[in-house]
Amino acid sequence: MPAPTRLSERISRIAVSATMKVATDAAKLRARGRDIVDFGPGEPDLPTPANVKLAGIRAIQDNFTRYTAAGGTQELREAICERHAADFGTSYTPSECAVSAGGKHALFNILQALIDPGDEVVVPLPHWSTFHDIVSYCGGVSVHAPTEEAGAFAITASLIERHLTDKTRALIINSPCNPTGEVIPAEEWERIYAVTSKRGIWLISDECYSHLVYEGQPFSATSIRGARSTVIVAGSLSKTYAMTGWRIGYVLAPPRVASAVAKLQSQSTSNPNSVAQKAAVEALRGSQEFRTEMLAEYRQRRDLGLAGLQAIPGIRCHEPKGAFYLYPNIRPLLGRNWIQSTTQFAEQLLEQAGVAVVPGEAFGTTEHIRITFAVSRRDLERGLLRLKTFVADLAE
Ligand SMILES: Cc1ncc(COP(=O)(O)O)c(C=O)c1O
Repeated sequence: MPAPTRLSERISRIAVSATMKVATDAAKLRARGRDIVDFGPGEPDLPTPANVKLAGIRAIQDNFTRYTAAGGTQELREAICERHAADFGTSYTPSECAVSAGGKHALFNILQALIDPGDEVVVPLPHWSTFHDIVSYCGGVSVHAPTEEAGAFAITASLIERHLTDKTRALIINSPCNPTGEVIPAEEWERIYAVTSKRGIWLISDECYSHLVYEGQPFSATSIRGARSTVIVAGSLSKTYAMTGWRIGYVLAPPRVASAVAKLQSQSTSNPNSVAQKAAVEALRGSQEFRTEMLAEYRQRRDLGLAGLQAIPGIRCHEPKGAFYLYPNIRPLLGRNWIQSTTQFAEQLLEQAGVAVVPGEAFGTTEHIRITFAVSRRDLERGLLRLKTFVADLAE
C-alpha cells in the first residue's frame, strides 16, 4: 500500500502567520548565539499584572482544573459583559458572549459560523494577514479595500461602500489597526455602520487593541446606537492585560452567533483553559490601573520610536494613533544592494544587523515594514541605531 500523501485542498489555502515566521527566523539566529533586537511580535513585553497571576495560581490550588462550559464559564462571561458595560456603556448579557482561546480563535470561529464558500468579506488594506487566511479557509473571498498612506490610512464608509457587492456577507474592521495604528473616529464608525446595516452585512469589529489609543477615548462598535443586531465583537485580553500566553479572547454578538461559536468549540477545542479563565475574571474585575500605566509607557515608546525613524534618511513614518506598531515607508531604500522588496529588506536587516521586523507584504503593501514598539526602551534605541547604520551602509 502506498503511504498517504494527500492533504486537504483547504489547508493549502493558508500560510504560516507572517509574524510567527519572523519569530522563528529570529529564534534560529539567537540559537546560534546572535544578539537579536526583535521588533517582530505583536506582544507586550510587560509581565501579566501580579493580581492576575495570583488568580491563576489560586485557581490551580483550588483545583479549578476541569472542563468548563465550552463557551466559557458563566462567571467569566458575566465579567466580560460587566467590563464592557463599564468601558463602553453597553448592556450585553452572558448569552451574547462566548469565550475562546484568544482573539484569533474568536475570529476564526466567528467566520466559520458566518461564511459559506463564495461569500465575500471586505477587509481594509493594509490588514493583519490572518483575516485573509481565515476567510480563505472558510472558502470565502476576502475583498481588499486599499486605504491611502497620504490620508493616514483612513478607513472610511465611502471606501467600504465601493467594495460591497451582492455577495458581501461581512466587513472586518480592526481599529486601532494592526499594522497602521489608524483609529477610526466615532462619526466615521456611524457612517460605516449605516452602510453595512442597510445592506444586511455583518460588521465584525476586531477590538483587540481598543484600549491602546493615544488620543481621545477607547471606542467599541457596539456603542453605536442600534448596532447590536449586526455588530460582532472579537475581543481579547492578550494586549490589554499583557496576557498573550494565557489565550483568552471573546465574542460579543447576537445570541445565535455566540451560541454557534460555543457549539463549534464544543466539537473542536472544548473550553478555553480553565485556569486562564479564572485569571481573566481577575483581570476584568480587579484594578484597571495597569491599563493606564501601560498606555503611558507605550506613548513614550511610540514617540521615541517615531523620532528615531524620522532621523533615518530614506524612511518616512506617520504617527500611529493607537495599537503599538510603527509602519514606516521605506520605498527610497528599495532597489539598493539588490534589495527589491520589503521581504528582502527584512531578511537582510535580520541577517546583517540582527533586527527583526515584519515586511509590509505580510499586510498587503509593498513599501513598508512593521516595527513593534512594545519592547523595552533600551531595545527600541538599540534596534533603531542598528537600522540607521544598516540603511546608511546600503549603496545608492
Ligand atoms: C489585529 C489582531 N487581532 C487579533 C489578534 C489576536 O490576538 P490573540 O489571539 O492573542 O488574542 C491580534 C494579535 O496579534 C491582532 O494583531
